[in-house]
Amino acid sequence: MTAHATTTSTPTETTPVGAPRAIPELAENFTWGVATSAYQIEGATDADGRTPSIWDTFCRVPGAVVNADNGDTACDHYRLMPEDVKLIAGLGVDSYRFSLAWPRIQPGGKGPVNAKGIAFYDRLVDTLLEHGITPWATLYHWDLPQELEDAGGWPERDTAYRFAEYAELTYRALGDRVVNWTTLNEPWCSAMLGYHEGIHAPGRKNFSDALHAVHHLLLGHGLAAQRMRAAAAEADNELSLGIVLNLGHGSPASDDERDREAARRSDALGTRLYLDALVHGRYPEDLLAELPAHGVELPVQDGDLATIAQPLDLLGVNYYTSHQFAGTDEEGATTDERGLPVVRMVPFGLPRTAMDWEIVPSGLTRLLLRLHREYGVPLVITENGAAFDDRVAEDGAVPDADRVGYLASHLAAVAEARAQGADVRGYFAWSLFDNFEWAEGYEKRFGIVRVDYDTQKRTVKDSGAWYRDTVRLTRGG
Ligand code: NOJ
Repeated sequence: MTAHATTTSTPTETTPVGAPRAIPELAENFTWGVATSAYQIEGATDADGRTPSIWDTFCRVPGAVVNADNGDTACDHYRLMPEDVKLIAGLGVDSYRFSLAWPRIQPGGKGPVNAKGIAFYDRLVDTLLEHGITPWATLYHWDLPQELEDAGGWPERDTAYRFAEYAELTYRALGDRVVNWTTLNEPWCSAMLGYHEGIHAPGRKNFSDALHAVHHLLLGHGLAAQRMRAAAAEADNELSLGIVLNLGHGSPASDDERDREAARRSDALGTRLYLDALVHGRYPEDLLAELPAHGVELPVQDGDLATIAQPLDLLGVNYYTSHQFAGTDEEGATTDERGLPVVRMVPFGLPRTAMDWEIVPSGLTRLLLRLHREYGVPLVITENGAAFDDRVAEDGAVPDADRVGYLASHLAAVAEARAQGADVRGYFAWSLFDNFEWAEGYEKRFGIVRVDYDTQKRTVKDSGAWYRDTVRLTRGG
């Protein structure tokens, strides 16, 4: 999605499958982990004072989630946590990325900390540390307390202040043991899928609401960062603070000026809207110039951009795929029915995962190099992985060679970016478990560990064993 992208050819992708081997470029100063999020694995949605989040509500909307699935039980991690931590330790990773459920810690999104809610994360953190695993906490992975949505949700400025308060309370409770924090996970998804496309909670379809949500999510991040840094300084805690974005490498489908413009537009709305604000303290001029045509403006108040552009210790990158764009529709028209410019994704013709996402590891190398060059923040791959239709063998094994291939080719892409100078400090496989894949319910499985939802039995897939061996070999074990 770079404005300078000139690549027009279809990349040649390889998916090496096979025996694990050391990856020398990732041997030193590199964190290896697995990742999950609260609503996707915890279950126990009404335990110990937790109040509903927008996802509890959305799951009850007929047709919103495949099979009308919901997170009521999920992987039952709230109950099985001690066993699950042992499983993580068995994978030989050094870090575990999880998210904290706002409606457990601060029911309803306001008021004091719920002692029973925070106690779960206290135990999780202590158990991880006992097993020598470094906790990486994400404050917000999409489970906004429903009460705050009822008061207007992320399009309302007050939600940013509520988030900062929750962040500080939570940090004060866990910051003595948790060094690595990220504020928001994928704010593009919260705003665009939740408030514009309506396919994620809370299910609104309003572009103006979505852009207001973007601004207030970013403002919430900045306010939270300020309050967490102050609390860390007061307590003399070490703190590494970042944010997690979903990013890809966008390119024009051809050298045609219209395709280049389409790639630029996609980049402005998907990447620079976030990163220019977070790192440079400004919204992209080209996007601002185009918003009036959409009848939309960002609700920026004096000082907001300075608040948003807090120093970042790291940028978390969630990478799944990349796209190329055309500025014409299939009939050659350059504007749509509303008179707005066409921005159309054009497939590369590469193999796809069960999510129907093309497998484009070269896009990860290009993305990391671009982020390094243009933003200069240390990078961590906070999510990368794939859903496939896993087959369970008679002996219970899960021979998921496709997932091994996906992980291997993307780790090679990270190694290549590092070899070319990108400052990448870690990699977290998404996901530790098969889990609740949002609007796709439980049908799409991303785990390197299989979950049998009838019995809650966990089985390490071939990809899990491959990942474990890759980490061990890379570390010289
Ligand atoms: C990114 C999201 O953070 C995560 O929750 C989701 O499961 C994966 N993408 C896969 O779609």
